[in-house]
Amino acid sequence: MQRIMITGGAGFLGSHLCDSLLKDGHDVLCIDNFFTGSKVNVSHLLTNPSFELMRHDVTFPLHVEVDQIYNLACPASPVHYQHDPVQTTKTSVHGAINMLGLAKRLKARIFQASTSEVYGDPEIHPQPESYWGRVNPIGPRSCYDEGKRCAETLFFDYHRQHDLDIKVVRIFNTYGPRMHPNDGRVVSNFIVQALKGQDITIYGNGQQTRSFCYVDDMVEGFLRMMGTERGFTGPVNLGNPGEFTMLELAEKVLSLVGSKSKLVFMPLPVDDPKQRQPDITLAKEKLDWTPKVNLEDGLKETVYYFRNLLSA
Ligand SMILES: NC(=O)c1ccc[n+]([C@@H]2O[C@H](COP(=O)([O-])OP(=O)(O)OC[C@H]3O[C@@H](n4cnc5c(N)ncnc54)[C@H](O)[C@@H]3O)[C@@H](O)[C@H]2O)c1
Repeated sequence: MQRIMITGGAGFLGSHLCDSLLKDGHDVLCIDNFFTGSKVNVSHLLTNPSFELMRHDVTFPLHVEVDQIYNLACPASPVHYQHDPVQTTKTSVHGAINMLGLAKRLKARIFQASTSEVYGDPEIHPQPESYWGRVNPIGPRSCYDEGKRCAETLFFDYHRQHDLDIKVVRIFNTYGPRMHPNDGRVVSNFIVQALKGQDITIYGNGQQTRSFCYVDDMVEGFLRMMGTERGFTGPVNLGNPGEFTMLELAEKVLSLVGSKSKLVFMPLPVDDPKQRQPDITLAKEKLDWTPKVNLEDGLKETVYYFRNLLSA
């Protein structure tokens, strides 16, 4: 049994990670400022004596005693991270400094939820971890992309300079229950629009592709990464290499929801990558991990969640 802290623990991925770690018998300290996360995501855990919820903003230092830290705090969708871009960079950079400082004091293993956005609009496809990326440093997405890149730099400098036990994963698009219904991410957008009978908004011509990983697979990848031997730092790509166009996704959602919503086409947002697919060779090799849940099954669970949420 370990005492494990999760920053951003009341968010989409964080709340599922809380569930898994508690199931495995650990003590979980969930830290969140509830910017995009919500108490509802962890309300079913509040009576569990091994679970503790603390309102805290990671841009400020924190003094607690734990054995491991998962650093997930950061708004993840463009709508949310562009709402207050300065705070987004602060969350990634000051948040990383504060959590790394804490891990250094405690000699605790620390995990960083980085992102495929560090690859920017990539020239190579699929992206291996050795690819350095193609990121605009001054655009509207930069607060997130560069914030996460700088956080990775800090993690690796703490590792080299202070021998800190770090674990860095780069997460590709993940979806599932407890995604925020209004975060503008494509899976939640399409499902919510289909359930409400609204037009489905497709950016560009819908031929741009994404790969989508179901949340249970992603959390399993986190746990496996955290269980690797000391000295294995990553970064490791985690995502589902199955690639779908936005049009294919829209059609799958429409058929699962049984909706007659129309497809409408809008201009592509600035710096939106045309194609994104993880190369997960390293994750297969080092973590013995591959995603198991196919898109259809994952979407069914997600539609079920949003149907209940919208009818509540
Ligand atoms: N979901 C994905 O597809 C995806 C892809 C790449 C990377 N990630 C990364 O994974 C992590 C979790 O993402 P998610 O999808 O669960 O998003 P989310 O927005 O649901 O979760 C982020 C959580 O962090 C909290 N938070 C934000 N700023 C904070 C601060 N300053 N102090 C304390 N808490 C703060 C939010 O309230 C929220 O609960 C993020 O770091 C994100 O960048 C997610």
